[in-house]
Amino acid sequence: MRHCIYPGTFDPITYGHLDVLARAAKLFDRVTVAIAHNAGKGPLFTTEQRLEMVRTSVAALPNVTVTAFGGLLVEFALDQRADAIIRGLRALSDFEFEFNMALMNRHLQPAIETIFVMPNEQFSYTSSSLVKQVAKFGGDVSHFVPPNVGAALKAAFAG
Ligand code: COA
Repeated sequence: MRHCIYPGTFDPITYGHLDVLARAAKLFDRVTVAIAHNAGKGPLFTTEQRLEMVRTSVAALPNVTVTAFGGLLVEFALDQRADAIIRGLRALSDFEFEFNMALMNRHLQPAIETIFVMPNEQFSYTSSSLVKQVAKFGGDVSHFVPPNVGAALKAAFAG
């Protein structure tokens, strides 16, 4: 059984993340979406809300499970007996950050490989922060997030 971890803050999950996830689910027998508590990033949604949003969004993918983690990603990956970490590369601008993170993770735990996939180019400019900004000012985000996430964004910015 080949198992990979797809980590992120997912604040909130977008169609771009789901595109990466669908590719991971084809490549691996099992995929665990690992939601970082990541309080340092000051997420809009609580960990529980992000878990709920991701679980609803991945319901159609039978080999995908969703959980939250704190601490080092590579320690979590080892605990889960994962073979690899998968990350999406949207554009060249992602490269430096992802490259450094992959090398640091390899330094910490050489047994865990990082694998990159490219999401469909229609998502190359999608990011959770931009989606939140558009939603905050009442813009239409239906091209970028599933309906349940759109509704959660609307509720978060209501009033
Ligand atoms: N589609 C759309 N957006 C995407 C995307 C895709 N395919 N891939 C990345 N993004 C965007 C996200 O929307 C997010 O946008 P934002 O910054 O505007 O909010 C940004 O890229 C990155 O988010 P995400 O993919 O959720 O990952 P992250 O960078 O927040 O997560 C962790 C980083 C959690 C993997 C990393 O911090 C970590 O491993 N933390 C644990 C502690 C640790 O081990 N640290 C050492 C690491 S070397």
